[in-house]
Amino acid sequence: MLEGKLVNLRPIEKKDLEEMMKWINDQEVTHYLSNFLYPISQADEEEFLERMMRHKDTEKDLVIETKARSYLGQISLRKIDRKNKDAELGIVIGHKDYWDKGYGTDAIKTLLRYAFGQLNLSKVYLQVFEYNQRGIHCYKKCGFKEEDRLKKEQFYDGKYYDVILMEVRKEEFEKMDK
Ligand SMILES: CC(C)(COP(=O)(O)OP(=O)(O)OC[C@H]1O[C@@H](n2cnc3c(N)ncnc32)[C@H](O)[C@@H]1OP(=O)(O)O)[C@@H](O)C(=O)NCCC(=O)NCCS
Repeated sequence: MLEGKLVNLRPIEKKDLEEMMKWINDQEVTHYLSNFLYPISQADEEEFLERMMRHKDTEKDLVIETKARSYLGQISLRKIDRKNKDAELGIVIGHKDYWDKGYGTDAIKTLLRYAFGQLNLSKVYLQVFEYNQRGIHCYKKCGFKEEDRLKKEQFYDGKYYDVILMEVRKEEFEKMDK
């Protein structure tokens, strides 16, 4: 388990399926995420959960929990690349009532401490949709900076939006995390 100030990050368990099903078809949550085009069945989600639980050197999915609540959402490092020393970060807090309380920032900082301090990665990157101002603000608080943009790449609610590529490097993060 990785311990943060507000949250802990723990392995995903079978029991988490019930909590995952509560947000997986909530479009107010999923329209910020990639690959959520169609409603997802419990059977499909169970299969996905099984895959996330299996150990892989290139992917790590963890549950975000607090002392009071055993599941707030999930955070992941994907495409962990030992040669180039980088990985892609993904995060979702599935319960909207828990947004804007600092949990996302604490979960990301906790995972970055692990990524840089333990895995010895030198860069973590992510993609975020232009209309996700909450996400962008949260990432900036964690040291991420915009590096590039895929112009008008994401179609949402009748319009195309940019996909913003952000990254944070080990030295920058460790300087700001003192
Ligand atoms: C994005 C997400 C992980 C952030 O986690 P969180 O716990 O809500 O974030 P935090 O509370 O740590 O930080 C959010 C910040 O954004 C700010 N914010 C909220 N709405 C905002 C808006 N419309 N514009 C700018 N800032 C905004 C909050 O005030 C807060 O900043 P502050 O602490 O300086 O006041 C979470 O909201 C979430 O899971 N959203 C849905 C899925 C998602 O977007 N995943 C990421 C895909 S790239």
